[in-house]
Amino acid sequence: MDRVKTYIEGLDTILSGGIPENQVVLLTGTSGTGKTILSSQYMYNGAMKNQPGVYLSFEEPASMIRENMKEFGMDFAKLEHAKKFAFMKYEPYRIEDINEMLESTIREIGARRVVIDSVSALGLHIRDQAALRELIFKLSITLRNLNCTTIMVSEIVQGKSPRLSRYGVEEFVADGVIVLYYERFQSTFNRGIQVWKLRGSSHSMKIHPYVIDKKGITVNPEDDMFIRT
Ligand SMILES: Nc1ncnc2c1ncn2[C@@H]1O[C@H](COP(=O)(O)OP(=O)(O)O)[C@@H](O)[C@H]1O
Ligand SMILES: [Mg+2]
Repeated sequence: MDRVKTYIEGLDTILSGGIPENQVVLLTGTSGTGKTILSSQYMYNGAMKNQPGVYLSFEEPASMIRENMKEFGMDFAKLEHAKKFAFMKYEPYRIEDINEMLESTIREIGARRVVIDSVSALGLHIRDQAALRELIFKLSITLRNLNCTTIMVSEIVQGKSPRLSRYGVEEFVADGVIVLYYERFQSTFNRGIQVWKLRGSSHSMKIHPYVIDKKGITVNPEDDMFIRT
């Protein structure tokens, strides 16, 4: 099986080499766990190695991501000029056209990597649950047909019975699921990352600690995160 490497330190190790090619992986976690940073690193690292990518953001505007990611040494503007990367503009009132718009942007730059950040925010534009499910499903088909390897972000709400996804459909559409944890122990919060599912592949069964610092996200593939039970 061919793998698409994230080139994020430690992450490819716990994924047994990377994300299986052409798959859709759901990246889920509560607000502030680093989903946008991880997704940006996946895009940036790929584009730097000649694997162009398209980033579809329903949350922050492109200008904000461009600016925030400079903090971690990622210069997206440069990659955009070189046509190795594109932030996709979307228009909420034309949400039904999102599939065609995404397809043409992917073809334009020959994208192999795609990020959808987030399907939860996409849901704000479509009130009808059935229509939303159908759209998410269609998006995943389009992405597989175009040979893209995709990170689909889903923001979950902190709660007593946490679920993997907001709408309860995202995990069925996805071939793989990666979960980001943010857990309190005494007076500090610890970050942890887990590969929940990876279709057709082995993967680590542990929750691994990760840090966010000036290099972005770094995963420790050796250790377990300590979670109080
Ligand atoms: N320069 C930095 N150094 C360390 N941590 C940072 C830095 N910038 C942001 N963070 C951490 O990353 C979090 C935001 O990450 P982000 O990817 O936007 O989260 P999400 O998309 O999951 O809501 C912040 O809450 C903060 O904890
Ligand atoms: Mg985000």
